[in-house]
Amino acid sequence: MGTEVSILPLDLTEPRRVHATVVKALRHHPPIDLLVNCAGVAHQGRFIESHLQQLETELMTNLLGMYTITRIVARQMMRRRQGHIVNVSSLMGKVAAPSMAIYSATKHAIVGFSQALRAELAPHNIKVTNLMPSLTKTDMVKDMTPFRWVQAARPEQVAKAMVAGIKRGKREILVGWQSHAAVWCDRSLPGCLPR
Ligand SMILES: NC(=O)c1ccc[n+]([C@@H]2O[C@H](COP(=O)([O-])OP(=O)(O)OC[C@H]3O[C@@H](n4cnc5c(N)ncnc54)[C@H](OP(=O)(O)O)[C@@H]3O)[C@@H](O)[C@H]2O)c1
Repeated sequence: MGTEVSILPLDLTEPRRVHATVVKALRHHPPIDLLVNCAGVAHQGRFIESHLQQLETELMTNLLGMYTITRIVARQMMRRRQGHIVNVSSLMGKVAAPSMAIYSATKHAIVGFSQALRAELAPHNIKVTNLMPSLTKTDMVKDMTPFRWVQAARPEQVAKAMVAGIKRGKREILVGWQSHAAVWCDRSLPGCLPR
């Protein structure tokens, strides 16, 4: 497509290394206009049977990784007074699901993080968008027990919803009618959703 691409392999569970690599990269590459914080992991299972290591991996990747990269890139965006940050949460950031307690917690945290960041960065002309996909056919869910009432989306649908939402200046982007229905039901008729 005529675009030059640089790939920096990073393990988000190693914040010091991530920090050093991204700071170095920013010195040698053009400034970042759009940051999409998409990496994430999910473990499915009953909370009481979960292990500390699973909790650490989910917190480190889904939250600490996002924190580390966002802090460096947001500083650069502030200096330029322009930029856009998209944080990938989940429908589970609005409506938590059984068997996904820690994941739901991290995705709720991302919603709160994005709200606060949006207000802090708006005076610097930086936008913050929260993308909340529902179940999507990716590697993440291939071995999971499906939720009965949810129809899985394709990654392309999520990407299209993200681009359309950004163009319309939406702060939070839900993907598909099922997500809108789930959030509405959870707010208006608590307990009505099959879980
Ligand atoms: N699939 C769904 O149903 C669904 C629904 C709602 C929200 N989401 C969210 O969408 C985002 C993308 O997930 P996905 O469905 O595309 O899952 P995926 O296919 O499993 O992809 C996860 C991505 O995260 C990266 N990643 C995982 N651990 C990492 C680490 N320690 N350091 C750096 N990168 C790491 C993976 O990199 P490697 O490939 O190199 O391991 C991969 O690119 C996640 O934030 C997820 O929570 C997914």
